[in-house]
Amino acid sequence: MKSAFVLLAFLTVSQGLLRIPLMRGKSARQLLEEKGLFEEYRRKFPYNPAAKFLPRNELDAVPLTFDPDLTYYGVIGVGTPPQLFKVLFDTGSSVLWVPSVSCSSAACESHSKFNSSASSTFQAGTKPFYISYNSGFVAGSTGYENIKVGDIYVENQIFGLTNTEAVFLASLPWDGILGMAFPGLALQGGTPIFDNMWNQGKIPQDMFSMYLSSSVEGSMLILGGTDPSYYSGSINWVPVYGATNYWNIQIQSITINGNTVACSAGCEAVVDSGTSVIIGPSKDINNINGWLGAVTNQYGDAIVSCSNTKLLPDIVFNINGYSFALPPSAYVSKSVSRCRTGFATGSWILGEVFMRQFYTAFDIGNNMVGFAQAV
Ligand SMILES: *[C@@H]1O[C@H](CO)[C@@H](O)[C@H](O)[C@H]1NC(C)=O
Repeated sequence: MKSAFVLLAFLTVSQGLLRIPLMRGKSARQLLEEKGLFEEYRRKFPYNPAAKFLPRNELDAVPLTFDPDLTYYGVIGVGTPPQLFKVLFDTGSSVLWVPSVSCSSAACESHSKFNSSASSTFQAGTKPFYISYNSGFVAGSTGYENIKVGDIYVENQIFGLTNTEAVFLASLPWDGILGMAFPGLALQGGTPIFDNMWNQGKIPQDMFSMYLSSSVEGSMLILGGTDPSYYSGSINWVPVYGATNYWNIQIQSITINGNTVACSAGCEAVVDSGTSVIIGPSKDINNINGWLGAVTNQYGDAIVSCSNTKLLPDIVFNINGYSFALPPSAYVSKSVSRCRTGFATGSWILGEVFMRQFYTAFDIGNNMVGFAQAV
């Protein structure tokens, strides 16, 4: 009787998982390189990964930095009937926003725009969603809507509708962002969409996970649990520190062939699906790139020779007693004729370069992040 019950519960849980396919669009880097505009953009919009993690002001600013290598997006529906948007599922922020029909910025013209008059369930909010004076921000109004994610509807979700967008957003493959970090970063008085999904009983477990493929298709966001078909071995769990804003974890050290090359006294890092690379303080990152023989150019890209990248060493992240080895196939990427390491400077962030190698589970209920070898 008891085992039948357990089995039944297990089936229910695994059936309740919501799988959202993620696609990879053409990166802004690729798009701009093809037009010969990349270096101009890089000069105008220097990569400042720390911008996203600065303390926010009372105006509900959503700071952005021009990360030209973000490519993953999934499709959600906003309103009734659902209007479709490509969004970045971003574990480094907590706000959902999409462009609105009242936005005439270049970035809105090249993306889908939400028309609240065409939705029977739209309710306007009272608070603005930032008033922009800086090219690195989006701004607009707030509203409440039913959001369709996979087969479910999250009801009465607060979201931002932009009427102004920074110009660099025009070259990114997604229309808006769906934030999956903690409520401390949410719009004033609002609840992030994942928390609403859980509170409204739409998913079996207070957890989601991501498989980021290096191919155009095949990536998956799994809401409500984990899916063993996307990883091998077991998931190694790591406690999350101060889980009010970001997915912060503690790294004990970073080693190459047993030598500590960075984070020698331990360091705190954010696990962020909305950052393309791995970020760390310049002293540490310069040391790692030095071990790899990389030369950093004026745009902050660490360049290595494209021949013999296979001979480069694994970079090992020691986290909570586990060793996560990142091979060169994971941290070297090629664009046009150049090869870059996926290490850039700022405060510690484990971005997509790390998450492609390790299927990542975000367990809100137990305040943990889990990593397993991605298949
Ligand atoms: C928004 O939707 C309304 C109602 O369907 C329609 O009349 C209006 O033209 C739409 N506006 C835009 C800018 O598409």
